[in-house]
Amino acid sequence: MHTLMVTGGAGFIGSNFVRYILHKYPNYKVVVYDKLTYAGNLDNLKDVAEDFADRYTFVHGDICDAKKVEETIRAHKVNVVLNFAAETHVDRSLFEPGSFIQTDVFGTYVLLEAVRKLGLERMVQVSTDEVYGSIEAGSSKETDPLHPSSPYSASKAGGDLMCLAYHTTWKVPVLITRGSNTFGPYQYPEKIIPLFITNALDNLPLPLYGDGLNVRDWLYVIDHCEAIDLVLHRGQPGEIYNIGAGNELTNLELTRRILRLLNKPESLIHFVEDRPGHDRRYSLDCTKIRALGWQPRHEFDSALEKTVQWYMENEWWWRKLKSGEYLEYYKKQYGERLRDTFARSTGFRAG
Ligand code: NAD
Ligand code: TYD
Repeated sequence: MHTLMVTGGAGFIGSNFVRYILHKYPNYKVVVYDKLTYAGNLDNLKDVAEDFADRYTFVHGDICDAKKVEETIRAHKVNVVLNFAAETHVDRSLFEPGSFIQTDVFGTYVLLEAVRKLGLERMVQVSTDEVYGSIEAGSSKETDPLHPSSPYSASKAGGDLMCLAYHTTWKVPVLITRGSNTFGPYQYPEKIIPLFITNALDNLPLPLYGDGLNVRDWLYVIDHCEAIDLVLHRGQPGEIYNIGAGNELTNLELTRRILRLLNKPESLIHFVEDRPGHDRRYSLDCTKIRALGWQPRHEFDSALEKTVQWYMENEWWWRKLKSGEYLEYYKKQYGERLRDTFARSTGFRAG
């Protein structure tokens, strides 16, 4: 029997991973350890709590709290840690970098220390392609130097380096995955795909940064989960694995495809002032994880269609998120950029 502690398991990718693992491995137990920040949401695990009551436990805790982390590991006889917990939104990292450094760097150190002290079997650090920085041509390899551009990606890079240091110094059995931009059900509606789907459903403007020609490589969340599963079971400690599906698209093309699926007009697109330090393109060389036996199983357009469908059918999940703290954030983020269009839009008014 394996007991996995999934930190950040109440977030987007973490909750999808927990559901996937409990379905796939009938003899595994999962302890979700999550601080429940604005991005953590027990609604993401509602079905899991019902379907797997005997093998799933939720612990409300901060990964920066060493005492609670260790207590949880001991109490539940955890033997593997998967760290999904992070502050994850680039735009928020421009407003408040401190919480990113705290969770993404210090929190990762706390987990590594617990894994080392308590002699756990494995830790998987879930990281991102953003640590390589923008790449104009070609694709980033695991051995490439890191050039993070935002406080988010710099803090993720800090966490990665700490993992490698713990492996080199103490042989802590930690593995790193670097996934590309991920999409699917339960993604908080501040990230481009769920934001644009839910705004378009309400005929609200879709704020496209700069010229809309920045490129991201889109990965369906279940493909991402399968890759992490493979790294957990077959990867080599101390190694890094890129995970990308090769679906490179400009933000403009992505937006057009979302609008087409919803049968909404392109006049909803509003070009707004660019994000400072906005990386132009991410692209991953995934030779290594493919050699390990992974390939994406979801074709991009059908996965996008499935995702759009999910948001259409699950208003109960997202509508309540787009209120309260979210509206404050939305105004701060888009108020100036969308000043002209706010007057015409129904839900949001400039400050
Ligand atoms: P998310 O923002 O949806 O969820 C983050 C979760 O971490 C939330 O449940 C939150 O409550 C929790 N959390 C935050 N701070 C915490 C703390 N101090 N202690 C305990 N829990 C805390 O994030 P996501 O999109 O699911 O991303 C998960 C991981 O995958 C992150 O590490 C991110 O860097 C990485 N990643 C994300 C993407 C993407 O496109 N979303 C792509 C590649 C890698
Ligand atoms: P995002 O979902 O924030 O992910 P990341 O910045 O981590 O890649 O953004 C994806 C791309 O979409 C990125 O190039 C920024 C762009 N974007 C917009 O044009 N408008 C928006 O409102 C948002 C949230 C993102």
